[in-house]
Amino acid sequence: MEFTFKKIENIGSNLLVVFINNKKNLPSFFEKNSNKILSAIHCFNEFEFKFQQMILCTVDIDHHYTRRVLFCGLSEIERFNNVDIQKFGGDISDKLNDLKVVEADIYIDNTELNARQESFILNLCEGIKLKNYSFNKYFINKKERNKLYLERVNIHCNLDWLEEKFLDRSKIIEATHFVRDLVSEPGNILNPESFLPICKDMMKIGVKVKIIDKRDLQRLGMNAILAVGQGSDSGTYVVTMEWCGDKSCKDKENLIAFVGKGVTFDTGGINLKPSGPSISTMKYDMGGAAVVTGLIQSLARRKAKVNAIGVIGLAENMISGGAQRPGDVIKSMSGQTIEVDNTDAEGRLLLADIMWYVQENYKIKLMIDLATLTGAIVHALGHHYAGLFSNNDTLAKQLHEAGEHVGEGVWRLPLEEYYDNLIDSKIADVKNTGRGGAGSITAAQFLHRFVKQGCSWAHIDIAGVNWLDDGGKLSPRGATGYGVRLLNEFISKNYENTSPLST
Ligand code: BES
Ligand code: MN
Ligand code: ZN
Repeated sequence: MEFTFKKIENIGSNLLVVFINNKKNLPSFFEKNSNKILSAIHCFNEFEFKFQQMILCTVDIDHHYTRRVLFCGLSEIERFNNVDIQKFGGDISDKLNDLKVVEADIYIDNTELNARQESFILNLCEGIKLKNYSFNKYFINKKERNKLYLERVNIHCNLDWLEEKFLDRSKIIEATHFVRDLVSEPGNILNPESFLPICKDMMKIGVKVKIIDKRDLQRLGMNAILAVGQGSDSGTYVVTMEWCGDKSCKDKENLIAFVGKGVTFDTGGINLKPSGPSISTMKYDMGGAAVVTGLIQSLARRKAKVNAIGVIGLAENMISGGAQRPGDVIKSMSGQTIEVDNTDAEGRLLLADIMWYVQENYKIKLMIDLATLTGAIVHALGHHYAGLFSNNDTLAKQLHEAGEHVGEGVWRLPLEEYYDNLIDSKIADVKNTGRGGAGSITAAQFLHRFVKQGCSWAHIDIAGVNWLDDGGKLSPRGATGYGVRLLNEFISKNYENTSPLST
């Protein structure tokens, strides 16, 4: 969907959205019959002109024509932050789609916004566009299901430079939608094999893409990721995607590495998941890989002045005569042996190898992995915050701040020796399960054993935030695309050689 940022000439035939506070100043084109309009608004007792409230009125203009006007409250706006404004944008987006509106005019020229006018508009647009998403490609006979109507929003303000300013945000939002698309695809459509062309496609926008197939994985000794996929008829792959936007850095010494779990379907393996939602939702177990892919796409599309590498591990955790067994011992790329106590704790096996791979083969400054790693994180934090683990306080703080800023929060949990001891094995160097609770922490401790001395690392467990059955303020039910906005904010604030994106 598109935005324009131009001053209104005369009011057209589109649905009009007007912001109004309790001083009740109406736009000038309503002047002649403002009393009539205000008395119409007053009929709605529940509307108190407060921010986040809206009512739809039919307004008679000059006795010549009638318009639908969505009045949105603006009182007490000073109590609300940028994310609140985005969320109100999300509500407006839903309302416009419910009304089957294709093109809307939003009138925002409210003096009470003062210096905040610009950021108000940008955040409102961000919310409208983020929420204006639907994954409806598989409705053939029921085409009206979840159909989106809204295509164009004209923002009537005096700030035409916002067009340019909104461009980068647009690319980040589109990458978020791209992640939602990937996560929403069912397991029979998106598997390790069919994920590859999606990655290769990014070569068109200047990303260097490398695919490592089964033979090469064997040669490299990446037996942990291979073990995860060995029961599947689809292949197992590692894909690297490099974006080098900071040309001043010659030998790419300062790469920021992002690592993603891409289990395109997780049956649990021989430790089969029970029937019900715990297994039927597991197409979304590639959410980490999707976010890493979407992030690199957004960096390339907005030509971010930063050098970053995305590494994703693609495998399908299936059951067959060739599947791994509980109790198997495998040798990971790092040389450490792993007892596979439970074949359903497959994500950490895959990550162990790709985290090691990126540390061995690239000069990285820091490494952040994203994974739908544990059900336990949902018990700890629900569907609001993602779990954060890090061996570096500064990195943890930067990620936390970025999360608060964009409304994709991360909450830090501890790493320490007590928990590390819980993953000691009786037969191998480490075992892929813990004991006695703290399932998300023991999973993170497992990953920690594959982080080299001196490498700054953060692990983000997105199992609770990657998918929302009931939807959220900024995403409809289903995949959220959580992570793309968080990491863009984190990068732009801390590592880009330009001024930060956010306002
Ligand atoms: N993909 C799951 C984690 C998950 C659970 C993601 C629920 C999203 C929602 C992961 O591979 C898994 O099965 N983890 C096990 C680990 C256990 C066997 C130690 C879990 O959390 O139960
Ligand atoms: Mn699993
Ligand atoms: Zn999994």
